[in-house]
Amino acid sequence: MSGEKSGVTATLETVRQGEVPTHVAVIMDGNGRWARQRGLPRWEGHRAGMAAVRETIEGAAEAGVAHLTMYAFSDENWFRPPVEVEALMLLLEEYVRSQREALVRHGIRVTVFGDRLRLPEEARQAIRELEASTEGGTALEVHLAISYGARAELAGVAQALAQRCLEGELAPEEINAELFEAELLTSDWPDPDLLIRTSGEQRISNFLLWQLAYAELFVTDVLWPDFTREHLYGALVDYRRRERRFGLVKA
Ligand code: IPE
Ligand code: IPE
Ligand code: MG
Repeated sequence: MSGEKSGVTATLETVRQGEVPTHVAVIMDGNGRWARQRGLPRWEGHRAGMAAVRETIEGAAEAGVAHLTMYAFSDENWFRPPVEVEALMLLLEEYVRSQREALVRHGIRVTVFGDRLRLPEEARQAIRELEASTEGGTALEVHLAISYGARAELAGVAQALAQRCLEGELAPEEINAELFEAELLTSDWPDPDLLIRTSGEQRISNFLLWQLAYAELFVTDVLWPDFTREHLYGALVDYRRRERRFGLVKA
């Protein structure tokens, strides 16, 4: 794992000199600490984090990344103080509404995954509109994990497969990794090649437990609101030095 306080950066020119990962996943962490360092309430950190979301999406599109998955709100985050949850829901709705035009203009397709039934109706409506209006985007696919937890996702897969067995469509011994994968919320996209986590925490926090099996991990101490496209480029260039073995030996 890599990481330093100021964060590794690179230029777009350097990024364009080599291959970029197809799918980058990001755990956007450190908003609360960013706010505390400035004597501000936590929601100010979340608001500041919205600029980093824009930066990262535009940077990924410029770099030629095909899929960008961003962890915006976890199943566990519902248990934060109600004022913070409420602020996050309002910011989410505001983000979705304010960014729609720009996302369409940049050819970015946005899809949201997670338990959206738990979200306030206004946020769900804004998400539906965003997904519908960006549907034709081909420059970059952004997948937002909202009200998402990998354990719940995997339990959902188990339920779906059990149901198919009960209905006689499938025998238990036929269940394999491929059938399992097809039931995941992310089954339409390839697995992430690179996972970036900001704020120095070296953990997965219930994100994409199945899909990250062979992702390269990049941890930076930079707090999410301070994360720029140059930091993203730094991670993309670092990724190039990795030798991905997938359990095999080098030829
Ligand atoms: C990430 O920042 C945003 C969410 C988890 C919604 P945090 O709010 O976790 O910030 P820290 O970890 O307390 O600094
Ligand atoms: C992970 O960050 C969830 C998101 C970034 C949405 P957390 O801040 O909730 O994770 P922990 O509590 O530090 O593991
Ligand atoms: Mg955190």
